[in-house]
Parts: sequence; C-alpha cells; structure tokens
Amino acid sequence: MESTHFFIISIAISLSFCFIIQTHALASSNSNNPFPKEAHPTKTGYLPVNTTSSSAIFYAFYEAQNSTLPLSQTPLLIWLQGGPGTSSMFGNLYEVGPWTFSDKSFTFRPNSGAWNRLFGLLFLDNPIGTGFSVASSINEIPTDEKGVAKHLFAAITTFLKLHPEFKHRPIYITGESYGGKYVVSIGYYILKENARLSDSERVNLVGVTIGDGSTDPEIQTATHATTAYHAGLINDKQKEELEKNQMEAVTLTQNLKWSEATDAQTKVLTRLQKMAGLATFYDYTRKDHPYHFKDWMTELLNMAEVKKTLGVNESLVWALHNSDVKAALYADMMKSVKFMVEELLRSNSVRVLLYQGQWDLLDGPVQVEAWVKTMEWEGIVEYMNAERKIWKVNGELAGYVQQWKSLTNVVVLDGGHYVPADQPLNAQAMIEDWVLQRGIFGNLSYVAYM
Ligand SMILES: *[C@@H]1O[C@H](CO)[C@@H](O)[C@H](O)[C@H]1NC(C)=O
Ligand SMILES: *[C@@H]1O[C@H](CO)[C@@H](O)[C@H](O)[C@H]1NC(C)=O
Ligand SMILES: *[C@@H]1O[C@H](CO)[C@@H](O)[C@H](O)[C@H]1NC(C)=O
Ligand SMILES: *[C@@H]1O[C@H](CO)[C@@H](O)[C@H](O)[C@H]1NC(C)=O
Repeated sequence: MESTHFFIISIAISLSFCFIIQTHALASSNSNNPFPKEAHPTKTGYLPVNTTSSSAIFYAFYEAQNSTLPLSQTPLLIWLQGGPGTSSMFGNLYEVGPWTFSDKSFTFRPNSGAWNRLFGLLFLDNPIGTGFSVASSINEIPTDEKGVAKHLFAAITTFLKLHPEFKHRPIYITGESYGGKYVVSIGYYILKENARLSDSERVNLVGVTIGDGSTDPEIQTATHATTAYHAGLINDKQKEELEKNQMEAVTLTQNLKWSEATDAQTKVLTRLQKMAGLATFYDYTRKDHPYHFKDWMTELLNMAEVKKTLGVNESLVWALHNSDVKAALYADMMKSVKFMVEELLRSNSVRVLLYQGQWDLLDGPVQVEAWVKTMEWEGIVEYMNAERKIWKVNGELAGYVQQWKSLTNVVVLDGGHYVPADQPLNAQAMIEDWVLQRGIFGNLSYVAYM
C-alpha cells in the first residue's frame, strides 16, 4: 500500500539521521521532525472499509515493549477514541501510547503508564473522516452504531489478513467516553459474525473495555444533578432546576426525538458547568481547563515531516475533532447500546471491563452504576451483591473493584474522564492485571461468593 511505502521511506530517512534524532529525543527539537524515532509506531497504514470507494481507516500500531509471551500469543488491544469524531492520536499521545508530550516545545517523554508494555496496541481513527482516516464522501460517514461497526469490522479483518501473524492473538477492544459505544457495537458485531463464520475466519475477540463510557445515555443523563449535589457543587434549588432540564432530555429520548435529545443533554451539562463555575465537567477538581495541549497536538500532527513518519498524505489536515463526523452521529448520541453489553455478557466468551475516574461528572461512577444495575443479564443480582473490593497498587489505595463472572467494574480514585492520563500507573496496573486475570482481577468473584 501507498502508506506502507511511505512508512518504509520514512524509516530509511529516520535511520540515516538516527544519531541526530536520538540526541534530540528528550529535548525540544529544532530538527524538521520533532517526533522522536522511539515514538514512531511499529506500523501505520490504511484499512479500506468500502470496496467501491477510497474510504479507509488510519491505523497506528505499537508492538508490546516487554511481552512475557511469544508475540503470536501476546494480547492485542485496539483503542477507539470517542467524540464522536475525536482522533485516537489523542489517546496515543496523551493517554496510553508509549510516548507522550505535554508542552509546546514538543518535548516527548516515555509514558510510564503505557498500555503497550505487555500488549500490542492498535490505534484506529474511527469512524472514517476522523483524524487521519479518509471519508471519500460525507455521505459515507456512518450515522449509527451498526454503520460504525460494519466499517470497523472491515478494518479489523483487513488488518488481520494483511498481517497474518496477528491471527491468533487475543483481541481486546478498548475505548473511552462516546468511544464506549463503538467498543460495544463492534464487540456485538464480531459476536454475531463469529457465530456464522468458519473457525479460520473468526476474530479472536476475548474482551471489551469501556472507560468513562456513554452506554445508556437516557439513564446516565438523569443522574448529573444528584451527583453534583452530593459533591457539594450545587444546592437543593439548583438541583431541582437541573432535574427539570434532565427530564426534558429523558422525555425527548423516550419520544425518539434524537437530535433534540442530544441538544437537551448538552444543555444539562453546560448549565451544570455554569452553575458550579467548573473549569471542566471532565474533572470537577480542576480549577482551570487542563487540556491546553490540544493546540500543540494539532500543530505537531500537521507538520509535513510528522505526516511522512506516519505514512499519511501531506494534503490531509489533521483535526482533533472532526465536525462532519460529529454531525453524522449527532442523532445517535442518546441511543442506548446497553442491550449489546447484555449480549456480550451472555455469550460467556467475552469479558467486559468498565472503569471510571472518581471525579468525572460526565460518565463517572454514579452514571455507570445507574445503567449497570438495570441490565437484563442473568448474573446481575450476583454482580450487585458481589463485594466491592478495595484495590491497591504497590500498597497504596487505587480504587475499588467489583466483579462477577465476566463483568468487572473499577472506580479509579483521583482521576477524571481521562483516567490513563490522570492515573497512569494505576490504569496500567488495571489493564494488565485484568487482561492477564492476575491479583484482584483473578478469581475474585468466586472468592467473594465463598
Ligand atoms: C460504499 O461507498 C458507496 C459509494 O460512495 C456508498 O454508496 C455505500 O453506501 C458505501 N458502503 C458502505 C458500507 O459504507
Ligand atoms: C523491559 O524489561 C527490561 C528487562 O527486564 C527492563 O529493563 C525494562 O525497563 C522494561 N521496559 C519496560 C517498558 O517495562
Ligand atoms: C495526496 O492527496 C492528493 C489530494 O487528494 C492527491 O492528489 C495525491 O495523489 C495524494 N498523494 C499520494 C501519494 O497518495
Ligand atoms: C483463586 O482462588 C483459589 C481458591 O480460593 C485460591 O487458592 C487462588 O489463590 C486464587 N487465585 C488468585 C489469582 O486469586
């Protein structure tokens, strides 16, 4: 593929300047390419999603740094950013990738909480139109979760065909916020497809992970006022006002007025943010808006040399959020995917991890427990009765873990919406131990039952 070709050229270029780039890796860089060689993905490229158009999903893959298993058995995590329309390069450079940067001199540093220490990590810019992904026409951008899942399935199966050495690696789909809906819908889609595909064609899906996710927006929206009230952010009168706004969003959702429901839900959150004078509802402990690096990320990813490194066409403009994608999925935002989570749990073949940062007002612990307890899944009573265990990392309190059979929920202390950025080491311990079923994520449910 064209992009692979680009990538090979860029490796050759990088190698010849290896010495120069390395000396600049940890310092700010005046060289043409501030993206240090160590931070380059192992592979990048495009995965076509449509045989009759040029629409394709961009991927950046980082191999495990220190897998304890042979690579052919090393788990593969797929990361899907939310939005809708936010690029997964955000998750890569701010949250879970091996290298991060956080100031405008583009000083990269190794991420001690990287998720590719023990696992391969595949970032997909999803859906088409997002980040470096290509939508050949606006009309091809999916407008619902089924459309998203169809394209993701095409992309993932193409990746496995192009790279047969990945065929037997256990796959975990992970994602955050609105990306939680992508995670669930592609998981559900794979489950259905696997049921009719032959052994050799199946996708080896073993787990899905939803971080601070939107899953059942109607139920979640109805909880913001109570959460803010009990956090001391609003008084009783404000709570009642906010509850009226919430009711509007709920009623519109029940009447299937989808876009209006999304408007109403946005109104609830902006009203709450205003009432409480919050810098951001992603983390109500922050006194000022903490996410300044967005502009620098945009500058970095639009540099010609960086695009060359990533194997993307220089004429593509990278944006953190794509407004066409947001518009296409706007009416989807209040639609529930809870029934798909129930199906995944029922399958007994896919494990489900939910996690939330304690200080997230958008999709935090209260919002998630509210929909979880309404699930129509055979294990829900046992799950609700399972002991909520105190979770420690290196002897320090990190949060709480509740688990029954294939369902695990984690509340991560001292973190907001972007848990892996706020608590890198604890988030890393969580994902590694949950995937490998170690420690508290081992056979907790059975211990609790006894
Ligand atoms: C593929 O592209 C064609 C031409 O733009 C479009 O009509 C069709 O809906 C697309 N199919 C999918 C699955 O996106
Ligand atoms: C990988 O393992 C080596 C040897 O045990 C160790 O020195 C190194 O720090 C590890 N790297 C990471 C990223 O964990
Ligand atoms: C890059 O995109 C431009 C504009 O779409 C196109 O004309 C050109 O052929 C592309 N270059 C490559 C190498 O794909
Ligand atoms: C699993 O449970 C058994 C029986 O209670 C116990 O002996 C074993 O140590 C547990 N394993 C883990 C990883 O917790």
